[in-house]
Amino acid sequence: MQVQGIVTCLYFVLMFPADIIGLWWAVGSPLVMDSNSICKKTKRLAGRQRTICKREPEIVAEVAKGAKLALLECKFQFRNRRWNCSTARRSINRILRRNIRESAFVYASTAAGVVYTVTQACSLGTLPKCTCDHNARDVSTDGEWEWGGCGDNVDYGYRKSREFMDARKRKRRGDFTTKIQLHNNEAGRTGVKNFMRRECKCHGLSGSCTLKTCWKKMPPFREVGNRLKERFDGAIRVIISNDGKNIIPEGLTIKPPSRHDLVYSDPSPDFCKKNKKVGSLGTRGRECEPDSMGVGGCDLLCCNRGYSRTSVTMKENCKCRFLWCCEVICETCVSTKILNKCL
Ligand SMILES: *[C@@H]1O[C@H](CO)[C@@H](O)[C@H](O)[C@H]1NC(C)=O
Repeated sequence: MQVQGIVTCLYFVLMFPADIIGLWWAVGSPLVMDSNSICKKTKRLAGRQRTICKREPEIVAEVAKGAKLALLECKFQFRNRRWNCSTARRSINRILRRNIRESAFVYASTAAGVVYTVTQACSLGTLPKCTCDHNARDVSTDGEWEWGGCGDNVDYGYRKSREFMDARKRKRRGDFTTKIQLHNNEAGRTGVKNFMRRECKCHGLSGSCTLKTCWKKMPPFREVGNRLKERFDGAIRVIISNDGKNIIPEGLTIKPPSRHDLVYSDPSPDFCKKNKKVGSLGTRGRECEPDSMGVGGCDLLCCNRGYSRTSVTMKENCKCRFLWCCEVICETCVSTKILNKCL
């Protein structure tokens, strides 16, 4: 399974940075990835992916960054849920092997992340084969403003994400699981591409806006993540059509999935208890909010098993005063924090 192969592989790359690739993550600096090692280590890459590895290693580096971006977003979006996008190998490996909602989100957000980082690299001028998009056109150009500046070249990012993430063996194309994964990849990509925004700058005498230059910009990735999370909540369960060509909704009354919808075919486990077979880590020991009835609340997160309360004492610098010149004097405050953890 090639699509799955590459996503699983990227997760491994991210999980074991030290032994798989040279990876540096310094505060404020971009993630540096050695694409050579990614390509060398990912032996299961499909033909097309291998070609990209050889000819466009700089794209592979962006792919790896895109996967990292997606992973951080996944962890954010699912931070209060029973499944919290953990990259524990025994968990993510199992999850990506099945067609559940969670894997749909992972595929979609990874494909979206790759669109994002490749496009961003184009705008920054770090890729040899693409530049800013200078020819954005829009019907609404009416003379008061015109396109210019450095537009985000999302078409290039979209194309590269597609080439790399959708690379697959021909004989696999008819496979139900592959169809689902490709659909979700596309949903992720459109989550970036179809939500470009216009950003403008005024020219003219002292800030008067007699001439405006505008360009197209990608939405913040958080927004992409929020949208994909909404689609996760409204994901559509599908089956394969009788002729084996299409994925169709399981229920007759449900509308067919659009390009934007996430699709899945298997129900998710409840992720309450540890279960190796389905990749569930269980929620024992997770921190929860006792007063919340919703997601993140102890009832839901702990699956009604109850929770323990412990108070922890914390020492902090507080009541700091600045003395002229140049000393800061603080007191030590002791506070207690109540920790609620699922049993
Ligand atoms: C995610 O869930 C796992 C399993 O319940 C837990 O071990 C881990 O600490 C959680 N991660 C975060 C950031 O809460």
